Amino acid sequence: MTSNPELESGSLLDQFRETRSRTLELVKTLEKDDFVVQTAFFMSPPKWHIGHVSWIYEAIMSKIDKNYEFYSKEFSEYLNSYYQQFGVPHDKGLRGVVSRPTTDQIFQYFNTINQRVEKFIESKMLSKDAKKMIIMGFHHECQHQELLVYDLQHLLAEQYRPVKKKELPNPVNVEKKSKHIKGGIYTMGNNGNEFCYDIELPEHKVYLNDYKIDEFPITNQQYMEFIEDGGYDTYKYWLSDGWEKVKANKWNSPMYWEKIDGKWHVRDFSGIREINPNEPVCHVSYYEAEAYCKWAGKRLPTEAEWEKAACWNEEKQEKTTFPWGNESPDSDKCNLLESYFWRCSEIGTFPNGISKSGCQHMIGDVWEWTSSEFTGYQDSKQDLMNIMTNGLQIKKF
Ligand SMILES: [Fe+2]
Repeated sequence: MTSNPELESGSLLDQFRETRSRTLELVKTLEKDDFVVQTAFFMSPPKWHIGHVSWIYEAIMSKIDKNYEFYSKEFSEYLNSYYQQFGVPHDKGLRGVVSRPTTDQIFQYFNTINQRVEKFIESKMLSKDAKKMIIMGFHHECQHQELLVYDLQHLLAEQYRPVKKKELPNPVNVEKKSKHIKGGIYTMGNNGNEFCYDIELPEHKVYLNDYKIDEFPITNQQYMEFIEDGGYDTYKYWLSDGWEKVKANKWNSPMYWEKIDGKWHVRDFSGIREINPNEPVCHVSYYEAEAYCKWAGKRLPTEAEWEKAACWNEEKQEKTTFPWGNESPDSDKCNLLESYFWRCSEIGTFPNGISKSGCQHMIGDVWEWTSSEFTGYQDSKQDLMNIMTNGLQIKKF
């Protein structure tokens, strides 16, 4: 998505309509009963996503226009995810236990908000900051489209019928090697004029040692070797918390894997099929990714190491928006939702998406784990504070 805050209201409207129609496209083939069901505490019913992505525009409009009146208090409570400033949100794990608002009412709400947002964009003299907030609403909705897809995997898997489906290009033969990346001071974070979330800022310097990183994501074949070597039965590969989860939940493979007639199969949008050894392994938790690395004698990259391998051009000494450069993604370079492949691509499918460091599949297909915690970037302009881990001083007698 292009996301320049200087956009004219015409192109803002186009982006809005495009985003909304893709959301509807994702749920077009669902049965009405599918919209209400919550199959796990970590997923949300499709009905909730449809409502929530609409509610966010209400929250944004209320920030821009202090006189904005919300559609309904009841809807706001149900559709608020965790924004305390808008009231106490409905419990995330209990989004599937309420039948009201009904699915029809939620769609009616979706359409009403469409009209309100369109009128808002057309009728107001929007400041640069206001446009930026509305664009954030588009990105938020795109994020939820992604969440909706992984929730549909949990809800329906092979029973889900996408509206559009395309064939993946054939992969080229590849060798699984690693690339050497030169260390030094690296400036990480967003440096462009395009939209970014606050968590991608500020740009800041980090020191990296020289490192080597795999050219491709870990494949099912590689992960199966870990399983066959007793990876899930050997405590020494696991963090303590992870080992407890392995035992308590009887983990023995990634989520959605099933052993049928002695062979590993996966249940996903392509049906129930034998594991494809050349697809990246997915649906693994952080603990599993970490344990695999320990077994393989490697480690996860830090976020900075991953980012440098993904978008640093050593020759030009510059960072690019995407691994291949600054041109927008297309189906020739990576596997995104908009590519309509509806499955992971085998490694070597997108040689045109190669990063300047020589890594492939750095975007699309799967999210990748890093060892970095999710915390704010270091802001050199911010003052620091000393705070004791134990607030009580020992009293001397
Ligand atoms: Fe959200």
